[in-house]
Amino acid sequence: MAELLPVEPFDMVIFGATGDLARRKLIPALFHRWCDGQIPEPSRIITTAREEMSTEDFLARAAETVNGNGANSERKARWAEFSRLVTYVRADADGEGEGWTALKEALNGDPAKIRVFYLALPPSVYGPVCAAISRHGLVTPRARIVLEKPIGHNFHSARAINEAVGAVFDESAIFRIDHYLGKETVQNLLVLRFANMLLEPVWNANGIDHVQITVAETLGAGERAGYYDRAGALRDMVQNHLLQLMCLVAMEPPHSLDGDAVRAEKLKVLRALRLIRAEGAKKDVVRGQYTAGVIGGVPVPGYAEEVGGTTKTETFVALRAHIDNWRWAGVPFYMRTGKRMSARRSEIIITFKPVPHDIIQADAGVLQPNRLVIRLQPDEGVKLMMMTKDPGPGGMRLRYVPLNLSYAEAFEQDYPDAYERLLMAVVRGNLALFMRRDEVEAAWRWTDGVIQAWQDGANTLHAYAAGTDGPQQAALMLGHDDREWFDGHD
Ligand code: NDP
Ligand code: BG6
Repeated sequence: MAELLPVEPFDMVIFGATGDLARRKLIPALFHRWCDGQIPEPSRIITTAREEMSTEDFLARAAETVNGNGANSERKARWAEFSRLVTYVRADADGEGEGWTALKEALNGDPAKIRVFYLALPPSVYGPVCAAISRHGLVTPRARIVLEKPIGHNFHSARAINEAVGAVFDESAIFRIDHYLGKETVQNLLVLRFANMLLEPVWNANGIDHVQITVAETLGAGERAGYYDRAGALRDMVQNHLLQLMCLVAMEPPHSLDGDAVRAEKLKVLRALRLIRAEGAKKDVVRGQYTAGVIGGVPVPGYAEEVGGTTKTETFVALRAHIDNWRWAGVPFYMRTGKRMSARRSEIIITFKPVPHDIIQADAGVLQPNRLVIRLQPDEGVKLMMMTKDPGPGGMRLRYVPLNLSYAEAFEQDYPDAYERLLMAVVRGNLALFMRRDEVEAAWRWTDGVIQAWQDGANTLHAYAAGTDGPQQAALMLGHDDREWFDGHD
């Protein structure tokens, strides 16, 4: 059974409380932690945005998302209890006005209490909001700030945001969220690598042929199209989620799970990532945008139709990356992510080197390399693909089968959503699950190289029909290396 570790009482101010993130993720996450008894009673949740409304109206809206129409009486009772923790305050986050006086009043009390400011706001206001928090005297000794990704839209804007936030909060009080780091299976990557002796001796260029990281979604840009059309798949997913996954696969063992120990190792990977310039981008990068298609039998419009006009934003990107260090020299890391793909699937596939000499007869079946398939979502699990003898008479016939660890079968329990884990980690002050300033900036430096290559005309935007696995050029990129995406192993 999972063990519940209660946190200290805290006050949490959620800026941008009427937004998509707060509605869909933050409030439900806090409610679930409350239901599990992890949040102690004197905690307070102060929600704020610019819209004028009462706390009752805010809670009524939130209840619709959290409970839908089908809450039973027990859940309704829990919601009523949780509601006592919540206040809504109208305030102009980056400005002045009486909203700030009301915020200050709502936060009144013991200055030694943990205080969390969660900025579920556009990154352009992170700096001004921090300045306002400071100006209004709300930074207490145990105050901390949570910033959502993406931090800026390139290296320079990220640095400016980091400077502005750093002028108010010490780095040890800044929690930059990448919610992939809060996923159960992503956390398990650390355990898989560093709590099992078996893998480490082959976890390098001698033992590994290549790595594939796929984050495929069936959803389109949806209600966030305004933001997404300015960002695109590279900024929205690769700069943060995919690079973070790559870091966890590629980093050296940290000396402990201490925040700075883990983050220092991830930083080394990001700094060793070979920059992609225009010439390289022609063969190492594929950009795509979905057109109309069918997903799960349902017709869906193309991206341009969804955003209502012509757009050059990529909804798919595939890359061949190289980490220039001893461990990974010559091992390609293929990454791809896209919206409106054939299935929702996030996974990391480590393909090991083939055996050095094949002693099995050629007609016994094709000898395939071992593959470690780490399925992040859905159907979380880990599979090790092995060659085995097909049982029974008929000579030495080969079969490629998985040693299968399915989370659903092995653990038979639900575990918290990434935001639940991350919010509690903020209260506990566990920085290991959050990005450090230098990591974010290093990730942007590399990403900026790809963006510059695009601006220099290195990559055309290929169309792919919604419900497929992206443009054919992504398959050709691996085909060029005599490899293919390892799909269809379910
Ligand atoms: P939304 O546009 O849905 O919401 C933004 C919120 O900020 C609204 O409540 C808006 O309310 C408020 N706001 C904007 N400007 C100000 C201001 N000056 N003062 C006070 N409130 C302001 O955005 P999301 O919720 O989708 O995203 C929030 C952040 O989280 C962004 O940085 C985004 O990149 C990040 N993020 C979001 C994810 C998601 O799934 N939604 C996933 C990962 C990251 P009002 O205008 O009424 O004040
Ligand atoms: C967010 C991106 O960070 O991650 C979204 O902004 C994307 O575009 C989402 O849909 C995917 O997260 P998850 O947890 O559903 O894989």
